[in-house]
Amino acid sequence: MPNVLITGANRGIGLELTRQYAKDGWQAFACCRTPSQADDLRAVEGKVSIHALDVADARATERLAKEIDAPLDVVIANAGVYGPGSEAQTFGRLDLDGLRDTIETNTIGTLRTLQAFLPHVKRSERRKLVAITSQMGSIEDASGGSTAYRVSKTALNMAVAVAAAEVKSDGVAMAILHPGWVRTDMGGPSGKISPEESAEGLRRVIDGLTPSDKAPFLTYAGKTLPW
Ligand SMILES: NC(=O)c1ccc[n+]([C@@H]2O[C@H](COP(=O)([O-])OP(=O)(O)OC[C@H]3O[C@@H](n4cnc5c(N)ncnc54)[C@H](OP(=O)(O)O)[C@@H]3O)[C@@H](O)[C@H]2O)c1
Repeated sequence: MPNVLITGANRGIGLELTRQYAKDGWQAFACCRTPSQADDLRAVEGKVSIHALDVADARATERLAKEIDAPLDVVIANAGVYGPGSEAQTFGRLDLDGLRDTIETNTIGTLRTLQAFLPHVKRSERRKLVAITSQMGSIEDASGGSTAYRVSKTALNMAVAVAAAEVKSDGVAMAILHPGWVRTDMGGPSGKISPEESAEGLRRVIDGLTPSDKAPFLTYAGKTLPW
């Protein structure tokens, strides 16, 4: 039975990914900051183990990587934050400490997760490392606002694009995936798609990934996005 590790699995897209993989019979290592408060995650049926993980905490990540002594077929670094309020993400009023914190979670935290579990992925059958990014990290899409969020995702995209070439010879596939505009706490109620639709699409795209010289930047529907 294949397995998957997902960060930010207590709500939103991460929770739905966990539900769907578990429903399909996968073993899920579901990571979240506060397992004792993760009621929706604890209610997911199937082979799901819940692990405490704050992706901004280097020691906690290292500890968990040691604790999970199993090959991991797929790792989905999904945890992320929007950052400071939108006013504080516009030029002239930029909250630079907030920008730093956003990078700490979205860029460094995501890379930390992918890097910590690379050895587990290398030992597995399917060998896939996925970063959940956003279309808003595309420089082509630089239409104003959300500076901290955009910068954190653009930097992540570059790091993963480069990493893909470095793990290709180990048979590891990496990708940067945009989940769509999804009705979650982050996406808000006006989002265009449900977490169910997003997770279904993401799973399909992840299934088709192969090792490459540069990580593909794809939507949940499999469409290539401009950098
Ligand atoms: N929703 C959209 O429209 C949309 C669009 C493009 C990209 N995305 C990306 O999709 C991913 C998931 O977003 P979502 O819509 O599901 O957002 P969400 O509902 O706000 O959920 C965010 C998840 O990330 C977790 N998280 C935040 N900081 C963390 C940290 N330091 N350590 C561990 N977990 C942390 C949260 O945990 P807590 O409950 O502990 O806070 C929560 O589980 C994010 O990377 C986001 O940037 C979303």
